[in-house]
Amino acid sequence: MNDKRTDQTSPAARDLIARDRRHVWHPFTQHGTEAEPTVIARAKGASLFDAQGREILDLISSWWTCTHGHAHPKINAALARQAERLDHVMFAGFTHEPAVSLAERLAALLPADLNRVFFSDDGSTAVEVAIKIAYQSWINRGEPRRRMLLAFDGGYHGDTLGAMSVGRGSQMFGAFRDLMCKVCVLPYPATFDGDDAADEREAGALSAFDALLTERGQTIAALIIEPLMQGAGGMRFCRPRFLKRLVETAQKAGIIVIFDEVATGFGRTGTLFALEQAGVVPDLICLSKGLTAGYMPLSATVARDAIFDMFLGDSFERALPHGHSFTANPLSCAVALASLDLFDEERTFDRIAHIHARHRDMLGVLAARTDVTKPRVLGSVLAFEVKEGGQYQSEQSRALRDWYLAHGLNIRPMGATVYLMPPYCITDEELARAYAGMIDGLDALASGA
Ligand SMILES: Cc1ncc(COP(=O)(O)O)c(C=O)c1O
Repeated sequence: MNDKRTDQTSPAARDLIARDRRHVWHPFTQHGTEAEPTVIARAKGASLFDAQGREILDLISSWWTCTHGHAHPKINAALARQAERLDHVMFAGFTHEPAVSLAERLAALLPADLNRVFFSDDGSTAVEVAIKIAYQSWINRGEPRRRMLLAFDGGYHGDTLGAMSVGRGSQMFGAFRDLMCKVCVLPYPATFDGDDAADEREAGALSAFDALLTERGQTIAALIIEPLMQGAGGMRFCRPRFLKRLVETAQKAGIIVIFDEVATGFGRTGTLFALEQAGVVPDLICLSKGLTAGYMPLSATVARDAIFDMFLGDSFERALPHGHSFTANPLSCAVALASLDLFDEERTFDRIAHIHARHRDMLGVLAARTDVTKPRVLGSVLAFEVKEGGQYQSEQSRALRDWYLAHGLNIRPMGATVYLMPPYCITDEELARAYAGMIDGLDALASGA
């Protein structure tokens, strides 16, 4: 494979990399083997620009966060306005306009009585909070027997301890097994376009769930799932009707249902939230990433009224003992509000539908390749498997990632899974470049270039 990297030869770039090497510990990085990081100097729209001004199309939206595009003038202005007014204030005993307005907006956008918004900082903490709410709600109800959590094979919910526990099916966290809480893992019926075993796998997952309910239904506190699409597990999809059956069965058995929409939220699957496509209402939903259009750390765990009511009482013991220094940071909330406005102002769902149609046009091209399996599209996400692509961080997936980067594309395969999840502002010309480069990378991989 060609291992030509971004040109980082300028003295300023060399200096920054040397300083980075001395003091920075990067996420998901083996510093013993990893090549030097790419210096990014600025970003605009769907593009990042390195120290030499070379363009890199951000085709995975910077870890799935960037929705309307980098450096959007309206979001920049909202951020600057809020910084002039109120930068931050602790959120216990204090409140402020951006947080209240954002809570109101989210409650109005979410279905039924998903009305109560708990703010935290990122996807992992949103999940952590949901797990703690679910768990404590059973204690507050006088049913402490319900302690077991259910999660799905291949699910990923973040890197804090609770979130890792429900993500144990992702095989990412072997070193921490002994620290995790009790979780049962159910099979996940990953489906794709033209999958003729989808019915069978869905039935298998549902009957595994039924068996578990019969065996120990009364001990289960909550079930967590990434609705319609497992992200880090490899862009694995499930169908809305499976999700609906699952949720109905769980709620009938009294189990609290948590939707982790950290990755799927804010348009990624074609609707604002994935739950809309299944027509179900979870008891708790976790939001982050696209919440602030990729600008600021912020997350929200939204609870149905009945869940919130279980924390009311005369003693602090019934309250949720959880909070963070930057809970409901006003700058983040102001940015989230500006981002929500843009969905209407820029007719973002038309753009998402357009990206979806363009992605679908690629399905035939991908299906015709002998080195590709399971091509699939959901909303603005296009994914497929490279045959014999190896595990997460395999030599092959890193080689492909490096090839793409060297050719101006930020595409980072997860093991055998190659995917595009672009910002919604991406233009037709940029998409054409993305598809052509994506295919060229596969050809280069196949020829060992
Ligand atoms: C579905 C899902 N939940 C939770 C997380 C964790 O979010 P964060 O990395 O912001 O902690 C992620 C991150 O990719 C995710 O995809």
